Amino acid sequence: MDIRRATTVTELLAAGHLYDTPPREDWAARFLAAHGHVMLIAYVGGVPAGFVSGIEILHPDKGTEMCLYELGVDAPHRRRGIGRALTLALLDIARERGCCGLWVGVEGDNEAALATYRSAGAGDDGGFRMLAWEFGEGASDR
Ligand SMILES: CC(C)(COP(=O)(O)OP(=O)(O)OC[C@H]1O[C@@H](n2cnc3c(N)ncnc32)[C@H](O)[C@@H]1OP(=O)(O)O)[C@@H](O)C(=O)NCCC(=O)NCCS
Repeated sequence: MDIRRATTVTELLAAGHLYDTPPREDWAARFLAAHGHVMLIAYVGGVPAGFVSGIEILHPDKGTEMCLYELGVDAPHRRRGIGRALTLALLDIARERGCCGLWVGVEGDNEAALATYRSAGAGDDGGFRMLAWEFGEGASDR
């Protein structure tokens, strides 16, 4: 297993089967161009088997921290340490970039994700509820 940071649209699109929905080329290009956006892809036999994305966020009283946006491992490759290795690799990058920490929001019943983050050293930071505003179909179509 080999973990590499994606630097091209082609790499981001080739991992499309791992995302929730098919990627768009223009959004992939914007992701790469956006400051502090990181995508690491795990390859098994040269084929994308998992990914983790992280985004740096900045606030006047907090400096820079990284949010683990998404983590996913293709079902046939789960329980082999890939999710943990991706999380640890993102932690290394966050430290290299001078972030003061890394956090992730996890649904309370996602045992696989909770176990993965804990095995990578995360501690519980309390429960919270997430509220959202939906802007409707096509709203992010730019
Ligand atoms: C969560 C996910 C990425 C884990 O990936 P993975 O490659 O299977 O995880 P790993 O093999 O690295 O496992 C890491 C640790 O978690 C544990 N773990 C993994 N899946 C588990 C499960 N279903 N139940 C209990 N423990 C589990 C492993 O035993 C391992 O523990 P250890 O380090 O003490 O041995 C994967 O299950 C997945 O893609 N799920 C769907 C997407 C998702 O929920 N993403 C997270 C969103 S917040």
